Amino acid sequence: MNVVAEVTLEALKQHQLGPLERYSECLRNTFEAHPPPFSVAWYGDQFREMARDREWFANIIVGNASTEGWGSGKLWYLAGKTHEEHVSVLIQQHAMDEARHSRMYSSMVERIFPGTVGDALRSELKTLAPIYRADDKPERLPPYSYQAILDNLLQMNVAEIRTMVNQMLARPVLLTYCPEESKERLTRMLDRLMWDETRHVGYTARLIDEALATGDGDFIRDIAPTRIVQLNELTLEEVGRARTDPQTAFA
Ligand SMILES: [Fe+2]
Ligand SMILES: [Fe+2]
Repeated sequence: MNVVAEVTLEALKQHQLGPLERYSECLRNTFEAHPPPFSVAWYGDQFREMARDREWFANIIVGNASTEGWGSGKLWYLAGKTHEEHVSVLIQQHAMDEARHSRMYSSMVERIFPGTVGDALRSELKTLAPIYRADDKPERLPPYSYQAILDNLLQMNVAEIRTMVNQMLARPVLLTYCPEESKERLTRMLDRLMWDETRHVGYTARLIDEALATGDGDFIRDIAPTRIVQLNELTLEEVGRARTDPQTAFA
């Protein structure tokens, strides 16, 4: 049993996506065969140890603002390459969420570490998140095959699970550093972030679950181990240089 696979499946229940039996089996098998670093105790221990350094931790939050903004742009592009309309709409919503998350992390830096954001960083933070209006649509690009879309959804799904774990780790640290008067507002922001991130795991899980029942099922079962192994390697690399380069780790 892999604890993160179980925590994920438990967290998905609040989004009422149905039993997700095929997805659950695929997730459990893959995480048991290739346990992600973020499902092992040392990962959280190392994070908490490094997070005692206030400046290091502030850089983690700047890194989150940057990663969420970058991810948003990538998703918007993917939505334009996805001609299955119902899937494209979900990815567009996801892109808008990540842009909003980027702005939330930027405002957290000011709120939690008052006085640390200089003019240069403030203008940098402003550039991190793309701005979409409610009726914006991505440019319609030559489409990816649906298998390529499924591959992207699979990679997004495991990356979002990692994001969810990172948020679980960051939450108590954020609340510890947060000035008393901002704690209530921060708690609301963190609840919203967690709701969104589990929803991102959820809609990708549902699309994967549906595809597992079709002729694309074998494709997904074949490629899932590769994608988790790649994410595990990337995670180890990022954690390896986290002390000196916090902006790319634990995002
Ligand atoms: Fe996010
Ligand atoms: Fe997300």
